[in-house]
Amino acid sequence: MTRKIIIDTDPGQDDAVAILLALASPELEVLGITAVAGNVPLPLTQKNARIICELSGVIDVPVFAGCDAPLARKLVTAEHVHGKTGLDGIDLPEPEIPLQDQHAVDFIVETLRQHPANTVTLCPLGPLTNIAAAFNKAPDIVEKVQQIVLMGGAYFQVGNITPAAEFNIYVDPEAAEIVFKSKVDLVVMPLDVTHKALTTQPRVDAFRALGTRVGMAVASWTAFFERFDVAKYGSAGAPLHDPTVIAYLIDPKLFSGRHINVEIEVQSDLTRGMTVADWWRVTDRPANALFIGDIHADGFFALLTDRLSRL
Ligand code: RIB
Ligand code: CA
Repeated sequence: MTRKIIIDTDPGQDDAVAILLALASPELEVLGITAVAGNVPLPLTQKNARIICELSGVIDVPVFAGCDAPLARKLVTAEHVHGKTGLDGIDLPEPEIPLQDQHAVDFIVETLRQHPANTVTLCPLGPLTNIAAAFNKAPDIVEKVQQIVLMGGAYFQVGNITPAAEFNIYVDPEAAEIVFKSKVDLVVMPLDVTHKALTTQPRVDAFRALGTRVGMAVASWTAFFERFDVAKYGSAGAPLHDPTVIAYLIDPKLFSGRHINVEIEVQSDLTRGMTVADWWRVTDRPANALFIGDIHADGFFALLTDRLSRL
């Protein structure tokens, strides 16, 4: 039984690898890809999503443009990490796949209304603006969502865009608050786990050794993407954030975490966007998220490389 998903994304090299993994995996049926402003502005994230689909050879997945700014704040982007295009590292042709006319938020609402309850999973890989906007526009869909598996937040790793916050949550904390308070079955891939999924040289070499356009693109993207993280963390390779969301859907046994309370800071400027995770259960706040802390990294990269070899 394939799992129906919607990927909400702000490509970004790591989003690109996540989308390729999903399109290469028979366990998943990608009902649509919804672009949101994040790493780069919306005109680029929607174009990048189409470029990635074209690269994969899967050209029948509809791509939608969503919100071009957070619910209540000015957009903050991350060209310093992802480059001006958002997909720096390799030049790919302009996409021919058309952008859908329908707004991404309306696609999310319509899809959840059309499918039976608990049959569609949302996979946000960027700021949560589109998801929250859909929940605001159509509160009836919230209880129909099967699960949300998202990349965002941090506890032990604290922050990557500020000392306190991870980028996806930081960009739109109000949207994150809506999602984390929605009572939807929520799985969170924070920096705590993605920082254990590093694109070391042997892993990048394995992508390149695929000898395909996809393998070459992924190797080039990870090489570009890692220059920022290696300089910052001195780590051997960059954290491959977003593909952990898709890998979890394919093989959850690669991951472990705790079902805990996670709340979002929206008041303070100093700690805006912090995911206040009660990892040590020091409060009696109700658990609302499976917060992932660990990964079998070799198993993750083996799965990823095998699936990419199929494109
Ligand atoms: O903080 C990492 C997250 O922010 C990833 O999803 C990356 O693509 C950016 O969106
Ligand atoms: Ca992303």
